[in-house]
Amino acid sequence: MQTAELELLPKKLHIVTYGCQMNVYDSYKMADLLSPLGFVSSDKLEDSNVVILNTCNIREKASEKVYSELGRIKKIKDAKAAKGDNLTIIVAGCVGQAEGEEIFARAPYVDIVVGPQSYQTIPRLLRELSRENKNLLNLDFAIEPKFDALPEESASQGLSAFLTIQEGCDKFCKFCCVPFTRGPEFSRGVSDIYREALAIASKGAVEINLLGQNVSAFHGKNPDGSEVNLAKLIRYIAQIPNFKRISYTTSHPRDMDDEIIELHGTEPKLLPFLHLPVQSGSDKILKCMNRKHTAEEYLKLIEKFRKARPDMAFSSDFIVGYPGETEEDFQNTMDLVKAVGYANCYSFKYSIRPGTAASYMENQIDEEIKADRLDRLQKLIVEQQQQFNRASIGKKLNVLLDKKGRHENQATGKSEYMQAVTVENAEDLIEKIVEVQITEARQNSLMATLTKASS
Ligand code: SAH
Ligand code: SF4
Ligand code: F3S
Repeated sequence: MQTAELELLPKKLHIVTYGCQMNVYDSYKMADLLSPLGFVSSDKLEDSNVVILNTCNIREKASEKVYSELGRIKKIKDAKAAKGDNLTIIVAGCVGQAEGEEIFARAPYVDIVVGPQSYQTIPRLLRELSRENKNLLNLDFAIEPKFDALPEESASQGLSAFLTIQEGCDKFCKFCCVPFTRGPEFSRGVSDIYREALAIASKGAVEINLLGQNVSAFHGKNPDGSEVNLAKLIRYIAQIPNFKRISYTTSHPRDMDDEIIELHGTEPKLLPFLHLPVQSGSDKILKCMNRKHTAEEYLKLIEKFRKARPDMAFSSDFIVGYPGETEEDFQNTMDLVKAVGYANCYSFKYSIRPGTAASYMENQIDEEIKADRLDRLQKLIVEQQQQFNRASIGKKLNVLLDKKGRHENQATGKSEYMQAVTVENAEDLIEKIVEVQITEARQNSLMATLTKASS
């Protein structure tokens, strides 16, 4: 594309997002950044002028998927080139940061590589690319300028929106690549966050999810320099009338203080559901992981939350087969799961991430053992999820309806415990929060009818 053409013609942008919710937020921001250049979002890769892969590096499978996807995109790029059209390929996100130049070595047809802290430079890099056709790389870690450079004006995220309040991580769990891909922990300024929250509310969101790799470590500053923690920030945001539901993710057990726990009992907009990753139930493994908390401390925390809000429900992440994990360690994880009674969980086989401390450990676990432990853990987790859902039958829950159901006059949405719920006779109520009575628990969702209060 020539520079003049880049500035003037309407162009199509296709973004593929992998990984965590922060990548989802970043993808919205990338679309916002490119909108002044005339880019409109397109669902179809074949029709697009620019494709961005917003990648995840958390496990080997996730990072390798990027290369197979790039192979597929190359075919489309070649087919377009044969017709005289161009497809610019951008790799953004955590694989971009972790692999850098290696991406050009393995996939030389990629035009631009940026990391999670440098994607604000995509418009400049596209202009540069239109002047001289060469591979461009930007992996700078300058978080503050990134948020400063993101446009205030943004497209709607729909009824439920993400807002990044904190980014990066200084915890250095030994298995994890995030401190290397997202960089050091950084909390955004409170007025900056508040302005964005108001903009999100004005676009129609009724639910806001405050994001951070380690959101419970939030310590943003007021304009007068005074520090604000997560609980205080939530109190500010709860004052925005359009927001009916507030949640935050992901928390680290080590950073949860009494103020945020108590807020769950006093702030009705704060959901009674928390993703609180523990990773393992074995103190030995937790220590080897550098998690800085024990299984007992974690269980005490859960107890405190339930004291503040008795209906509090939890989810967690687990890693099985961490270097040195014995069958006894694994049983401790199973015991912890049984002790908590989760609403839902994510579990993974330990995956070696190059450069992390655990990747150098010699006592790596056989793949077969990892697969067997994962299988046993996931069976228990599914059982618990079903138990949690069955216990909802007959209860009154609140559901934010966001789309039509599969059958006539049905609508679907999420309960305050993040369960998927299908509600009968509710198609007219989409975009509302309705009170329902749960009638049935299916494998992955609940069925419900409207209560008198809603119908
Ligand atoms: N900040 C969050 C998690 C970020 S990564 C926290 O502190 O928990 C999301 C999840 O991916 C982690 O909770 C962990 O369970 C999993 N994960 C991270 N590195 C991994 C690895 N090397 N192998 C397997 N799973 C991993
Ligand atoms: Fe990774 Fe640990 Fe930081 Fe979470 S707290 S992002 S698992 S290093
Ligand atoms: Fe993946 Fe990066 Fe998120 S590694 S989980 S996209 S922080």
